[in-house]
Amino acid sequence: MKTLLRIDASIRKAHSYSRELADYFQNQWQIRYPDSQIIYRDLAAEPVPHLNQQLTEAFFMNPAPPDVLALSDTLLNELQAADALLISSPLYNLSLPSTLKSYIDHIVRIHKTFTYAEGGAFRGLLNGKEAFIIHAKGGLYRSLQLEQLDFQEGYLRTILNFIGIEKVTVFPLEGTRNEAYAIKAMEEIRHAIMACFQTNL
Ligand SMILES: Cc1cc2nc3c(=O)[nH]c(=O)nc-3n(C[C@H](O)[C@H](O)[C@H](O)COP(=O)(O)O)c2cc1C
Repeated sequence: MKTLLRIDASIRKAHSYSRELADYFQNQWQIRYPDSQIIYRDLAAEPVPHLNQQLTEAFFMNPAPPDVLALSDTLLNELQAADALLISSPLYNLSLPSTLKSYIDHIVRIHKTFTYAEGGAFRGLLNGKEAFIIHAKGGLYRSLQLEQLDFQEGYLRTILNFIGIEKVTVFPLEGTRNEAYAIKAMEEIRHAIMACFQTNL
């Protein structure tokens, strides 16, 4: 049985392009894997708190006080149980929503999702998983060669690679501030998701 961990980050519960595309992806996933388990995290409905000193110190303790690590451990267990990770996220102020960054800060943990490698480098520990990112932006970046202004996509790819998830597929939806443009672009992303299921999943 396959397990999909879906994480939504848009602050909009309704009329969110990224959530709508994630619904489409999840629907395709459930058609492809009818008996799959879906683990769902809505970071707007249930935000993960910022890191604090007590929690980050507990990351390095052995044994650590379990009550301090309870939420981080739960998030980590969900991630470890998943075969695939689906993140739907808007671009906010050229970067990722702070709720998504807080989530990431809870699951990037020494000796759990990454460790030290020979020569001082790092090695990711979450091997054999893949990730899909649905990324909504109000403006246009690719066609205007302004990708360097988007600090989310590269960061998400890098941090997922860092914890060992090397196969990352991004579905970037641009131009949502123009509804007519967005409707057409949504259709293209749905085709890309469908094609991904036909060829890779
Ligand atoms: C606080 C905030 C900041 C935003 N910053 C940017 C930005 O830097 N660049 C951009 O292209 N769009 C920006 N937008 C527009 C969103 O990326 C766009 O509306 C996107 O469709 C939101 O995702 P959603 O439809 O899933 O809610 C911002 C929107 C909000 C609410």
